[in-house]
Formats: sequence, C-alpha cells, structure tokens
Amino acid sequence: MKTVIVGLQWGDEGKGKVVAYFSRFYDSVVRYSGGSNAGHTIEYNDGTKIVNHLLPSFYKNKTIELLISNGVVVDLEILCEEIKNLRKKVDNFPQIKISNLAHVVLPIHKKLDEKFDKLNKIGTTKRGIGPAYADKINRIGFRLKDFENEENLRMKINEISVIYDKIYEIVFDFENLYEHYQNLRTYIISQLEIINEIKLKKVLFEGTQGVLLDLDMGTYPYVTGSNCSTTGVQSGVGFPVKLDNFTGVFKAYLTRVGNGPFPTELSGKEAEILRKKGNEYGATTGRPRRVGWLDLVLLKYATTVSGVQEMILTKGDILSGLEKVPVCIGYRINGKFVDNILDIDDIKNAVPIYEYLDGWNDINDISFKKYIGFIEEFTGIKIKAFSFGPRVDQIKML
Ligand code: GDP
Ligand code: IMO
Ligand code: MG
Repeated sequence: MKTVIVGLQWGDEGKGKVVAYFSRFYDSVVRYSGGSNAGHTIEYNDGTKIVNHLLPSFYKNKTIELLISNGVVVDLEILCEEIKNLRKKVDNFPQIKISNLAHVVLPIHKKLDEKFDKLNKIGTTKRGIGPAYADKINRIGFRLKDFENEENLRMKINEISVIYDKIYEIVFDFENLYEHYQNLRTYIISQLEIINEIKLKKVLFEGTQGVLLDLDMGTYPYVTGSNCSTTGVQSGVGFPVKLDNFTGVFKAYLTRVGNGPFPTELSGKEAEILRKKGNEYGATTGRPRRVGWLDLVLLKYATTVSGVQEMILTKGDILSGLEKVPVCIGYRINGKFVDNILDIDDIKNAVPIYEYLDGWNDINDISFKKYIGFIEEFTGIKIKAFSFGPRVDQIKML
C-alpha cells in the first residue's frame, strides 16, 4: 500500500499530526520534497511535542523507518540537531535512511535567499530552499554523495566558489559542514536502496507546504521551490511509484505565511482573534501567519490539481463558539460571479462571496456534521476523518 498525504492550502494544515496518526499502518514514512522550510508539529499523547523540519513524522513507539529521498534539500546542521533532539524524546528510535542523491543546503544558499528576498519580496523562510533547488537545476549543487571523498569535495568547493563570487558576489563558506556530514554518515544510503525499500514496503509519503505553494500549480511567483503537491512524489523518489491513495489535509480556516494573494484574508481585530485562538505562528520562523476564512473555490482547485480522492479536516475545534461560520463559495471578479477558477492568477482580483453556516460549540454538534457535508458537496470529495485537537490521537474517522 502506498499513500501520499499533502496539504491542500498554503501549508500548515496539520500534515505532521495527520501523518503521525496514520503512520502506524505503514512500514516507512518518506519525505520526497522541500527542506527545512517545512515545520511539522507533532504532539504525542504523552505530552511530548516535536517539530520536524526534515525528518518524516511518525507514530511514537511503533517500529518504523524514516526515509529522506532524493527530492529533498537537506540542511545538515538542522538534520543533526533534529536527530539529536529526537533521541532524547523517544525510546523506540526509528530507523533513519537518507538518500546519497539528496542535495545539500549550504550557508551560501541561505545568504542568497536573503539577498533575493530583499528585492523579490516573496517572503521566503530564508532557509536557502529556492537557491538550493536552483543550483541543482544549474548543475552546480552539492549532493550528499559529493561529501564521500574529502579531496574531491575540496576541489568542487573551489570551482563553485568562483561561480558564487563572480555571479552573486557571495563568499563561499563551508563552516562545520563536513563535521555535520560525518555525524550523518551512518544514515546515508544509495537512492537505489531507498527505491527498493519503497517497492517492498507499505509506504506513506509525507507532503510539505501545500498545493497552493506548489512551484507549478500554486500562486506563482509566491510559491516554494519544489513540486510539493502529489506530482512531486515520482521525481522526488526517482522512480514511477504507483500510489494507491491520494489524501489531502485542509484546515477549517485558511492561513498563509509570506506574501501573495489571499482573497478571504482577515485584518485587524478579527484576524488577531483567530490567529491567537488557532495559535497561528510559524513552526519554522515564528512569524505570525496571515489568517482568513475557508475558501472552497481554492480548496476545489487544490483537490483537482492534486488528484486527491479523500480529505482530512483539521482545527474545526478552533472555530467552535462562533454563531455563524463563513465559508467562501465564490468570487466576484471584474463584476462577474465565479465559483470555479480556470487560472489561479484570477484570485488576485477576486472579492470573496460567503455562505454563513451555523456554528458549533462542540464537534459532536449536528451543525459541524452539516458543515462537513457542505464542504463535501462543494468539492465533490469525501472527508474521511477530522482532527479536533493537536494531539496525535485526536482524530475521528467518519
Ligand atoms: P503542518 O506544517 O501542516 O504539519 O502544520 P504545523 O505543524 O505547521 O501547524 C499546525 C498546528 O496545528 C500545529 O501546532 C498542530 O499541533 C496543530 N493542530 C493540528 N491539528 C489540529 C487540530 O485539529 N486542532 C488543533 N487545535 N490544533 C491542531
Ligand atoms: P509546512 O510543510 C507554510 C512559504 C513561505 C513563502 C513561500 C516560499 O510546514 O506546511 P521558501 O522558503 O519555501 O522558498 O518560501 O513558501 N512556505 C511555507 N508556508 N508552511 C510551510 O511548510 C512552508 N514552506 C514554505 O512562507 O511564502
Ligand atoms: Mg508547518
């Protein structure tokens, strides 16, 4: 059985928690895209909390394998730190395997990310993700494989530092990188071995970011540097894996970190209340997340381009207590009513139109059931479960 779980919005839908819950039914969890721009929070039932940036999410105390595949860009320092922290927090330590074809995020990538973002104003996480992927495509990237032989590595550094100096006026700096590599060495295996593991086992592919941040299908240029949607799985593992289940996670309202269009965005006091109640502060950067109401037009777009067959709703508990819950069911664009977009750029000038559904005080209320039914009918996609709290087991199957 092979399943992919992706975010259907602009990230932070609760993927980490949902993946941790369902991982108990799998042998391995695989990260196939993104890097340490991701921040996946997992609150275990015993109160332990972890935030994964690079390690896949998993159910505690179950024997499981965590794979980081070729499509991920790895920050060695952050990964070392994450593994170290994990050792303190779990007894049954998972098996970790990292592809030797994964590209490495270097300090120069973070410097370049800063430089670009000052002018370009995407509002990136400054984790060097875009520049690391750009170097991969420019064929000047460093793979973990390049660290195997220290002499060859030094030669490569000399070559690439000239390019960085001439093109970007950035001084190459490799501080402590080789040391971090040495700490990770035992976990690194060939990509072919990763592929063989994937072929043989029950595998859960953990998406990062969300479909609306996908490099091709998201709100370009306000997107991340990879195909974080379901389409990234095959290139992210280097072979045409056949997936059985495509699952999407979405939040009962909407958040976005960084810049870019957001038709249902709230401002002022209303935004502040929702942000506080939902604790919407970045797991990676600590930035306050922009918040707004659920946008069903965008959700439908995301389900269409990602091909998900089922959805999981999170954070319905955060909206409890509202008399009415607004959901966006269409836009007014240049005076016309639209409830189905053909081009995501259209949302730049969209004025949202809301339906006000009855609120709930408890997720067992009939109005919450009706809210779920309304979303299913609008999108045509079944909601198979909902999450009602941050703890891993706070999930109800429908
Ligand atoms: P991810 O990037 O998609 O994994 O999501 P983040 O971890 O960045 O943000 C989701 C936040 O919501 C985390 O703090 C989770 O612990 C929390 N969370 C997830 N599901 C629920 C839920 O159903 N209810 C509540 N109240 N919190 C949740
Ligand atoms: P998870 O996996 C939310 C956003 C950044 C910025 C844009 C580009 O936790 O859902 P990047 O650093 O990737 O080049 O930034 O993408 N972004 C995220 N927003 N959750 C994430 O990951 C994100 N990863 C990147 O804020 O707008
Ligand atoms: Mg996150």
